Amino acid sequence: MAMQLQTRMMFTPKKASLPWTPSGSHYHHSPPPPPLLRSLLPPEKVEVFKSLEGWASECVLPLVKPVEKSWQPNDLLPDSSLSSDEFIYQVKSLRDRTAELPDDYLVVLVGDMITEEALPSYQTWFNQLDGVGDKLGSSPSPWAVWSRAWTSEENRHGDLLKTYLYLSGRVDMLMIEKTIHYLIGAGVDVKTENNPYMGFVYTSFQERATFISHGNTARLATKSGDPVLARICGTIAADEKRHENVYSKIVEKLLEVDPTGTMIAIAEMMRKKITMPAYFMHDGRDPHLFDHFSAVAQRLGVYTVSDYVDILEFLIGRWRLGELQGLTAEGRRAQDFVCGLAPRIRRLQERIVDKQVCKMESCSVKFSWIFNKEVPLI
Ligand SMILES: [Fe+2]
Ligand SMILES: [Fe+2]
Repeated sequence: MAMQLQTRMMFTPKKASLPWTPSGSHYHHSPPPPPLLRSLLPPEKVEVFKSLEGWASECVLPLVKPVEKSWQPNDLLPDSSLSSDEFIYQVKSLRDRTAELPDDYLVVLVGDMITEEALPSYQTWFNQLDGVGDKLGSSPSPWAVWSRAWTSEENRHGDLLKTYLYLSGRVDMLMIEKTIHYLIGAGVDVKTENNPYMGFVYTSFQERATFISHGNTARLATKSGDPVLARICGTIAADEKRHENVYSKIVEKLLEVDPTGTMIAIAEMMRKKITMPAYFMHDGRDPHLFDHFSAVAQRLGVYTVSDYVDILEFLIGRWRLGELQGLTAEGRRAQDFVCGLAPRIRRLQERIVDKQVCKMESCSVKFSWIFNKEVPLI
């Protein structure tokens, strides 16, 4: 069925793909070949990160929340240390609250949760970034300390959402677990190569995207009558906001010490488009699972083309890219490209909507995560 839909879906034609999906084919089981030319960062650029270690210790590490002051999934879940009756009462309340959550909402929440579940494995990606990766696995470098702290904070997001959904009884845990298994096995390719400039641009964008997405699932949980789930999504969104702040701050600093190099990295990252880290997600059944999940997120307004452009505009403003001085000719070209990109994507978005209106019939897909129930994509 998915194959039939492929020809009809707005998201599959190359020109109409969502901006966060790279154009062209992409399936979990046959990831694209590695780039022929893997750009190695020149030693003087690696040195930039070495020279910023003092700054990172002073300005980045204080933004890590100490474990003792951090929330844990247990704070927001039924308390299994209570008596059986009390615990069962709490679980029963959870199941009553989640009974009415719409199927399409569950699809988006599961997709978000799976992305979070695989996040600790994304450390593999972070660690191959030149000059900031953790070469020992327990390196004392502030970049490595930050990346481990970040990952451990993120680890709670998947744990919390997964346990909550498990207790709800609304989702097919076996299919979800298979998807996580497949995803971690498939790895991650966010097109930053080994370039930490691009890595930090990517994470600035991505953390804001997850902040928006979890904020929207919180809003929809409230609307569907589950204030506890709303608090859960809101709590996660607050973490993402803090992470976004850290990564944006790092890029801000890089713009200060190396404006041209950073500006070029921002342009390069935007040219490649920001791809979600869970791009290779698969459940063993639907070869277009990520596209389908993205389509539902778009339709529910959890994460949309418009959000993508808003994030771009926000970062351009925060980093004052329009006013950046002292750039080389190549840097100025990158600046012009990035600063003119948002209106271009917005125009593309209008074309996507037009195509959608013209070509789409009622288009829906069965999601294994919710026991093969069918959910509309548009
Ligand atoms: Fe997260
Ligand atoms: Fe985050």
